[in-house]
Amino acid sequence: MPQEPLELYRDKNHACLMFSDLVEEDGQAVQANQFLIVDDDTGAIIDPGGNLAFNELFMGMSKHFPPHKLSYLIASHADPDIIASLDRWLSSTKATLVISRIWERFAPHFTKLGKTENRIIGVPDSGGRLPLGRHELVLLPAHFMHSEGNFHFYDPVSRILFTGDLGVSMTSGADARVPVTHLAPHIPRMEGFHRRYMVSNKILRLWTRMARQLDIAMVVPQHGAPIMGKPAIDDFFQWLDSLMCGIDLFDDRAYQIPTGHIDPVTRQVRPALQAVRA
Ligand SMILES: [Fe+2]
Ligand SMILES: [Fe+2]
Repeated sequence: MPQEPLELYRDKNHACLMFSDLVEEDGQAVQANQFLIVDDDTGAIIDPGGNLAFNELFMGMSKHFPPHKLSYLIASHADPDIIASLDRWLSSTKATLVISRIWERFAPHFTKLGKTENRIIGVPDSGGRLPLGRHELVLLPAHFMHSEGNFHFYDPVSRILFTGDLGVSMTSGADARVPVTHLAPHIPRMEGFHRRYMVSNKILRLWTRMARQLDIAMVVPQHGAPIMGKPAIDDFFQWLDSLMCGIDLFDDRAYQIPTGHIDPVTRQVRPALQAVRA
């Protein structure tokens, strides 16, 4: 049985809940977090997840907010672990999908014919402020971090920045519930992912310059643990500023005609046999 969601923030009108253990931990699917934001009688799910998470999230959220009243499904980008469950959410609620305009016409491929009609808000590259109850959610540009059309979500009430695949760490659902307040020992859990899934250091720097203007209590990624408190968040931004990733690390060695053979039985790639020298 999944645990109760982690309460990231709550006051009498506003709550942010994090579900971290809805997907069975059998090692096949990466651990993922889903979020419910409630402001007065308005509710939104951020990064609802794939089909693996749907049933548990739907049931889990029902205890905190009536699903039929859900206003938005807000997607940072269009990856399978973000919105593969779209068809089921659109069938079970009246919510509108909020997603980058560049994915607006791709998202209907997740659903049955006609399901998305008049139910998508395509967000322009510049982002915007989305009304949510008595407040609003800031849809912050985060393109190429890692997806080409990518947004992060800043909640001015809780001062939480929801960062999708930025700040991700590879861990279990239980460990994801323990916020990180000291960054250094956490870096090894983030490094490999960011080097491969983030696009370039230039983008990271452009983003940190924008993000430093916000008053942030917690950076909350879609996989792994939140990063909490100013010292850890400052260190996180500094780490990003100096991180080489994506195309910074790719050169001609990454673009060679392959010589290894894929063995369908072992599902591994066998390196090419070395030429035997006489
Ligand atoms: Fe992703
Ligand atoms: Fe992800």
